[in-house]
Order: sequence, then C-alpha cells, then structure tokens
Amino acid sequence: MNTGTWVGAVLCPGRYVAGERCKSTAKMEGKVVIITGANTGIGKETARDLARRGARVIIACRDIAKAEAAASEIRAETGNQQVIVKKLDLADTKSIREFAEKFLAEEKELHILINNAGVMLCPYSKTADGFEMHMGVNHLGHFLLTFLLLERLKQSAPARIVNVSSLAHHGGRIRFHDLHGEKSYNRGLAYCHSKLANVLFTRELARRLQGTKVTANALHPGSVSSELVRHSFVMTWLWKIFSFFLKTPWEGAQTSIYCAVAEELDSVTGQYFSDCQPAYISPRGRDDETARKLWSVSCELLGIQWD
Ligand SMILES: NC(=O)c1ccc[n+]([C@@H]2O[C@H](COP(=O)([O-])OP(=O)(O)OC[C@H]3O[C@@H](n4cnc5c(N)ncnc54)[C@H](OP(=O)(O)O)[C@@H]3O)[C@@H](O)[C@H]2O)c1
Repeated sequence: MNTGTWVGAVLCPGRYVAGERCKSTAKMEGKVVIITGANTGIGKETARDLARRGARVIIACRDIAKAEAAASEIRAETGNQQVIVKKLDLADTKSIREFAEKFLAEEKELHILINNAGVMLCPYSKTADGFEMHMGVNHLGHFLLTFLLLERLKQSAPARIVNVSSLAHHGGRIRFHDLHGEKSYNRGLAYCHSKLANVLFTRELARRLQGTKVTANALHPGSVSSELVRHSFVMTWLWKIFSFFLKTPWEGAQTSIYCAVAEELDSVTGQYFSDCQPAYISPRGRDDETARKLWSVSCELLGIQWD
C-alpha cells in the first residue's frame, strides 16, 4: 500500500474497505446462471445484479422459505421474473444429485455456475455422507455439483465456473491423512483447508477444461458483513463491532460479478481474483501435485469417475 492509499484508508476507512466494483455493463439476457447459497449475503447480491442484467437466475438453496423471500424481493426490484428457487443441500449428495437431475431435465442451457455457498467456524459435525462439514459443503459438495453439470456447461459454451474461495486459503493445508478432522479438529483451520481446496479445485479444473471454452476462476470477496460468522458467538459480536471495516454484501459481491460477466475475462481461466483484479495465490494453492491428488481423492470419496 502506498502513502496515498494509507492516508485514504485512515481518513475514510469505509470507502477504502469497499474495494473495487465491477465496471462491466454486460447484459445477460438469454444466459442461465446457477448461484448456490444465494438466499443471503454475497450470493443474494450476486443474484440481484445478474437478474438486473437480464439473466435467468437459479437460486440454489437448502432453506426454501428464505430463498423464496430473496427471490421475490429480487423479482420485484429488478422486474426480472426469471429468478427461480430450487432446493439444494450441499451437505447431502442425494440432494445435490436430485437438484442436478431436475435442473438438467428442465433447463436446456447453463452459462454460469457460481459455487458461492459456504459455512465457517462450524462446531465439529459431518454431512449426511460422513464428510467433515467445511470440507463436505465448501469443497466436496461443489465438486460433485460441478461434475454433474459440466456437460451442460460445455454444450452451452462459452461458459464460466466461478468458485468463491477466500484469503483464508493461505492458512489451509490439505491434510490427506485426516481429511475429515477425526484425529484433530480446529474449526477455524477447517474453514481454511476447505477454501484452499476451492483454489486447488479451480486450478485443476481449469487445466482439464483447456480448449472447451468453459473457464474456471476462484476469488476472495473481501471481509464482508454477512451471516457467515453465525456459528461463532465471539465472531458475530466482533463482526458487529467492526462492521464499519467490513464490506457490505453488495461490495463483497463485486468480484463474483466481475468473474461472471467481465468481457475481458472471456478466455481467462485458472486465476484467482480479489477486488476485481488478479490476486496472490499461496504457494500451497499453486501446488499442482496436491491439486491432482485432491481431485482423485475427491472422486473416490464421492464415488465418481471424472477423467
Ligand atoms: N463474508 C466474508 O467475509 C467472506 C470472506 C471470504 C470468503 N467468503 C465466502 O463467500 C461465500 C458466501 O458467504 P457469505 O459471506 O455470503 O455467507 P452467508 O451470508 O452465511 O451465506 C452463505 C450461504 O451459503 C448457504 N449454505 C450454507 N450451507 C449450505 C448447504 N449445506 N447447502 C446449501 N447452501 C448452504 C447459506 O444458506 P442458509 O442461509 O440456508 O444457511 C447461505 O445462503 C462463502 O463461500 C464464504 O466462504 C466470505
């Protein structure tokens, strides 16, 4: 940060934390978008923006009542009636398969998949399939969802996959010997591990998708005032006290929107963005061998063959 930026940050921290906004004016009429976890927070603001641009937006959520409330608010505000709610629980592979099956039966095209849903700081718990909750929802759930929808993305190309990761990936490791935290568990680290998995998945996916006109990029949205800290009493209070230093969900959605619509990213793939620009990936996030191993371990855990 240069001196001018420091002075700006001290004099007007609100403006500084807001970060960059997506400047693209791209229209999305005729485009079909799925956004996971779009009933609140960053996902909801991403859905609102893409609906305003004219896309058909599928809000894929586990809490249908909350999702319907978000969808009707977005429909009323944007005038776009093509904002649709579909049931998806990423903590249950049966629900993920049902969601994909229905989507593929009902929709002919898919142009943008935004893997946004996430959990953080959960007390130790497991998904319906016995995966540690952070790794299960944030990584394995989205890995399976992407696998099930990939052919439709390829048929609809040019298409984009956007994985919402985090700066927290810098603190993560892929602990192959204890992927489900059964030997040792720390809920902060479990989140970091799952966000590193998002970065590695994006890297390997982009490599495998070369030449298909389907791109895959990851991003950090910034520190955003949202419901993400709901599992920690302390963090919930800290988030409230320091809310002035956090992005609003609209500000936090800008990099997701940028990765989904920016014309200059048409053929950009395998990258990691923050504040609508390329950002530094941790050395562990650039480890191709770990990325390949995580891919095959994920396939084994999910019982799928993805070559
Ligand atoms: N907020 C930040 O500072 C920050 C920083 C870095 C990265 N991120 C990332 O940004 C993404 C969005 O987070 P956010 O801040 O907007 O948090 P949020 O307000 O808590 O939203 C998370 C969304 O994920 C959904 N979700 C959780 N578990 C799910 C499941 N099993 N199946 C389907 N959906 C599920 C939630 O649905 P319910 O409401 O039904 O639970 C909610 O819609 C996450 O991937 C997060 O890791 C956030």
